[in-house]
Amino acid sequence: MAIERTFSIIKPDATARNLTGAVNAIIEKAGLRIVAQKRILMTRGQAETFYAVHKARPFFGELVDFMTSGPVVVQVLEGEGAILKYRDVMGATDPSKAAEGTIRKVHAKSIGENSVHGSDAAETAAIEIAQFFAGNEIVG
Ligand code: CMP
Repeated sequence: MAIERTFSIIKPDATARNLTGAVNAIIEKAGLRIVAQKRILMTRGQAETFYAVHKARPFFGELVDFMTSGPVVVQVLEGEGAILKYRDVMGATDPSKAAEGTIRKVHAKSIGENSVHGSDAAETAAIEIAQFFAGNEIVG
């Protein structure tokens, strides 16, 4: 399988509970390498751009409020089949439906406050990575 890069966010519900290291331990145990990482406060503009695909959804305002409510850790993860692998490691969007041992099963609070985001496809991974990282900030 090809080496890929995917984009990850450790969300405000997880940083608030001091879970950055716990989430990173699950990521690294799964064989994914954290090749870029920074802790930021997302602006409303950044969150609205990032989640533009969900603009028409009833939860869009709540989602933007949540993602700007506290620090997030944005990351680039690298590994074999990283995009699908990280989706598996995160678990289902709704933590009540997530498989045992996944980040969302172990740590997420609700469908909104679900601890992590991961890209859903190669095209979105490239767009999401480019929104938050310059090429020279990613060191594989
Ligand atoms: P994420 O993978 O970051 O992509 C879109 C996000 O929208 C998703 O995780 C959830 O956090 C959020 N989301 C999806 N459905 C709902 C919902 N019904 N209510 C609130 N937030 C939601």
